[in-house]
Amino acid sequence: MRLQKFLSRAGAASRRKGEVLIASGRVRVNGRTVIEPGTVVDPDTDTVEVDGRKVAAEEKVYILLHKPAGYLCSLRDRFRRPLVTDLLGDIPQRLYHVGRLDLDSEGMLLLTNDGDFAQRLTHPRHRVEKTYRVRLSDPLSGRAAEKLRRGLELEDGFRTGPARVEIVSPDRREAEIVIREGKKRQVKRMLKAAGNRVTYLQRTAIGPLRLGGLEKGRWRRLTAEEVSLFTDNNTEGG
Ligand code: URA
Repeated sequence: MRLQKFLSRAGAASRRKGEVLIASGRVRVNGRTVIEPGTVVDPDTDTVEVDGRKVAAEEKVYILLHKPAGYLCSLRDRFRRPLVTDLLGDIPQRLYHVGRLDLDSEGMLLLTNDGDFAQRLTHPRHRVEKTYRVRLSDPLSGRAAEKLRRGLELEDGFRTGPARVEIVSPDRREAEIVIREGKKRQVKRMLKAAGNRVTYLQRTAIGPLRLGGLEKGRWRRLTAEEVSLFTDNNTEGG
């Protein structure tokens, strides 16, 4: 990795400022001052210092994005459709989405470069709750809601665990659904198995984190306190 990139990912300087730091002889690699801008470093083995202070490897970044429909949860797309990462501007770190939302789904998406954090949120063992607001093609009957609550078999044979289901509109075409699993397109498939169809889906919460008033297409960084909600001791039942 080029030294400027290393410095910007570590949160030590923007790329431009990194170049200036290097050119002015303030950066050392393995104890030697380096002034060539294109110097390549290995983040795993090289020691980089700025003004004599060691620069730690990549800064951990935690982003909460309100995903709009039409953006893909993918690192690249051969059809060049818009990607969720296109919405983040110039964050130097390479970020991965934690779980997915379908192309036409909206709502809370977390992105991070912290693999442990992502694992704690997505691994079935931790059973983190995900809350969805759905609009349906047909009114949700009491019987269908009960089936969803108890758990039902999807078309591929997977049996869903218990869910919380609340009908939230007088015409029974809107519901809030809380699940603790994260199979691909699970909510839509659950509703299909219950004889209905999701026409709109928004994820409003992950564990105790709420989307709140964050506007569609906007993002913010998680606070340290929010990140700590998902440490090992806190994810059970979170
Ligand atoms: N369940 C779905 O069916 N779609 C999503 O995007 C998220 C959960």
